[in-house]
Amino acid sequence: MTASTHLYEYFQPTNYQLYIDVNRANKTITGKTTVTGNATQTRIALHQKYLTIDQVKVADQPVNFEVDDDAELFWIDLPEAGTTSVTVDYSAKLTDTMMGIYPSYYTVNGEKKQLIGTQFETTSARQAFPGVDEPEAKATFDLAIKYDEVPGETTISNMPEVKVEDGVHYFDTTVKMSTYLVAFAFGDMQSKQTETKSGVKIGVFATKAHPAKSLDFALDIAKRSIEFYEDFYQTPYPLPHSWQLALPDFSAGAMENWGLVTYREAALLVDPDNTSLDVKEYVATVIAHELAHQWFGDLVTMKWWDDLWLNESFANMMEYVATDALQPDWKIWDLYQVAEVPLALQRDATDGVQSVHVEVEDPAEIDSIFDGAIVYAKGSRMLVMARALVGDEALRKGLRQYFIDHQYNNARGKDLWDALGQASGLNVSEIMNTWLEQPGYPVVEASVVAGQLTLTQQQFFVGEGKDLGRIWQIPLNANYAAAPKIFKEQKVVVGDYEQLRAENGVPFRVNVGNDSHFIVKYSPELLSDIMETVTEQDDRTKLQLLQDFRLLAEAGQMSYADIVTVLPRFKAEESAMVVDALYTLIANLRKFVVPESAEEDALKAYTKALSSAQFERLGLLPKETDTVDDQSVRVKIADAALYGRNEKALGAAKELFEAHEADLAKLPADVRLLVLSNQMENAGNQQLFDKLVNFYRNAADASYKAALRMSLTKANDEDLLQQLVDLFKDPDTIKPQDLRSLFAGVLSNHHGEQLAWDWFRNNWDWLVQTVGGDMSFTSYVTYISRIFRTRARLNEFKEFFEPKINMPGLTREIVMDTKVIENRVQLVEREKDAVNKTIAAANQQ
Ligand code: BES
Ligand code: ZN
Repeated sequence: MTASTHLYEYFQPTNYQLYIDVNRANKTITGKTTVTGNATQTRIALHQKYLTIDQVKVADQPVNFEVDDDAELFWIDLPEAGTTSVTVDYSAKLTDTMMGIYPSYYTVNGEKKQLIGTQFETTSARQAFPGVDEPEAKATFDLAIKYDEVPGETTISNMPEVKVEDGVHYFDTTVKMSTYLVAFAFGDMQSKQTETKSGVKIGVFATKAHPAKSLDFALDIAKRSIEFYEDFYQTPYPLPHSWQLALPDFSAGAMENWGLVTYREAALLVDPDNTSLDVKEYVATVIAHELAHQWFGDLVTMKWWDDLWLNESFANMMEYVATDALQPDWKIWDLYQVAEVPLALQRDATDGVQSVHVEVEDPAEIDSIFDGAIVYAKGSRMLVMARALVGDEALRKGLRQYFIDHQYNNARGKDLWDALGQASGLNVSEIMNTWLEQPGYPVVEASVVAGQLTLTQQQFFVGEGKDLGRIWQIPLNANYAAAPKIFKEQKVVVGDYEQLRAENGVPFRVNVGNDSHFIVKYSPELLSDIMETVTEQDDRTKLQLLQDFRLLAEAGQMSYADIVTVLPRFKAEESAMVVDALYTLIANLRKFVVPESAEEDALKAYTKALSSAQFERLGLLPKETDTVDDQSVRVKIADAALYGRNEKALGAAKELFEAHEADLAKLPADVRLLVLSNQMENAGNQQLFDKLVNFYRNAADASYKAALRMSLTKANDEDLLQQLVDLFKDPDTIKPQDLRSLFAGVLSNHHGEQLAWDWFRNNWDWLVQTVGGDMSFTSYVTYISRIFRTRARLNEFKEFFEPKINMPGLTREIVMDTKVIENRVQLVEREKDAVNKTIAAANQQ
């Protein structure tokens, strides 16, 4: 079989009768699947992974079958082609992989319990039942579930239960859908339910380890999201219910199974009395994201995984569109600017990056294209550009038609561009394909050449890159009407600069609003024109300047030392996104100083000077009069002040810790992480370590747990850090789902870097075995590449990863991350002295 053959070519299922019996005590699954469909030839194949196939029957007669475990399938010889029903008896093990059908573990009132749930995207439905496990193979599903049930347990799935007979739960026939969206769960649950205006039942489900009130926030957001989308898409939600379920063990953040969306607890449950604004924003955007998929992804699905962006890029944009409509006071698009935009701009500047649309076949590779920076952030930016081009009215009209044309079916990228093109009368596809099909993005240089305002575009690289002369169709959004709307050439002359400057009366700017995926490099003359009045510019512009400076500096097109001198101009900014961009830049300076050296002391003094007036203004504790921006700015300023060893900040944090020592969960959630981290860093000892670990083991609130977990990584005693590393493989303390962030935390602490790196290399086989099948596995490599900055580490990185370069799904990550570290090492070597001199000089002023 060639790599590009899909099983759907041989057999097109129309219905599955699924019977699944899960025995939790023995950790076994036995199942019977009858799949009906059309066979185009007598030799067909069904996917299976880790299944033991006992028998295959057609028309009650056993038929020959042949298992190919490497290809994750088994071949079946049919008596004849055409409409046929195949019945498969099989069994499997219930394993702790967070893929397929798997148990989640939790404790309630000291009793250890489990909840069974599923995770099938991308290619794990085949671990639960045999079938054509490809997005194009849409069929209806009749699910029947049995398990070693005890009274009081709840069983849920995509559709409502229709009956229970002999302990078997039967669910209503689904609509036509893809295998990767099938889901079910059972165990001891609590729930809260409500209904939308249109009569869709909305529910939130969780274990009983959480207070009932922690389900309320999600219930409200879910209800209002469904109502929003029904209106925005002009297409009703097609199922009777929309359940949201929090699973104690969950690899991703959330999963859009149709009618039964699953979440990690941190992405759904919120303590209404003490949760930080950023956690609420996160939870709301995750819910809005998954519910956007109920149409985009579930009702209309990409034909194959190469068009994954149709799912993820779109949902990533819609999570902001919807959240902005539900909570306008949050100004969630500001968060987009500091969360998604830099992620896309950074990664997409590394040569070797994939395009948003990418050819894939191998299952491990399919997982690896769920790249937060590309298919999510860059892809959503591409759609934000498209939305700005066509406008909301045409967007909605086009989408409505797209749903009518493709519902219960599949689509390709072209279908979306066609629908938006039809609705707007623009050639959307021609413009968007330059962004969809090409990796990377351009830097637009604006300069005055012989008196003429001139623009050029060229691919932007951080680190070494091969210039292939790529050209993009760039929505310019210049503030001078004389500039083109879409910049399609390599170079354009806008006109006589003096005259244009006089006519317009303001400095020349491009990418106003920062909604197009490119950065701008102004010539010194144009830049100083902007910088003269920079404090009067709007917040988006300030953020953009800071972001673009950082990227240009990373690429060596601007000097970090020059940037150090302009940063103080932004110190009084009160917009959360500007403050975020400012302190991100300052955090970027840390790579130029040796930890705990005189140079770092100077950087701390510089940071302290920059942040002290704002810390005076905001303090550490929330105030009645806070704006939404104040709430976010406080956290960033306090963090900077603590790093800068501002005595008032240190004192306030210590005081707050001591006031809550008896019940740390009660620390105000916005600053909980800062206060706990500060305590660990400055007063960490065995006693505190044991106390936090103990609290961690017993806490149920996910955001509190996250704060405890991350604060533990801040110890500066290597002995304590080693104790923490020794807990990495203890699942009773550290759930595998939380290991990534813990590992990244220890690695980013310079006292722990060696310990974490040694642990990683020594436990590689264990990692591959336990979380290697996980869709987020590559992020371990990404984390390492974010930290390493010395030539010695670069060599160790290469030595360790080069032999692994052909591991499925890891190749691109290793190649790119090697470049990322290489670039950083060179940058530090090149600019270190200049940066440190400038910081020292700035401190003298
Ligand atoms: N479909 C994904 C979940 C997923 C990711 C399944 C990778 C299989 C492989 C889901 O819609 C998603 O995008 N989840 C995000 C959260 C979202 C709000 C960005 C996640 O899990 O990080
Ligand atoms: Zn998604």
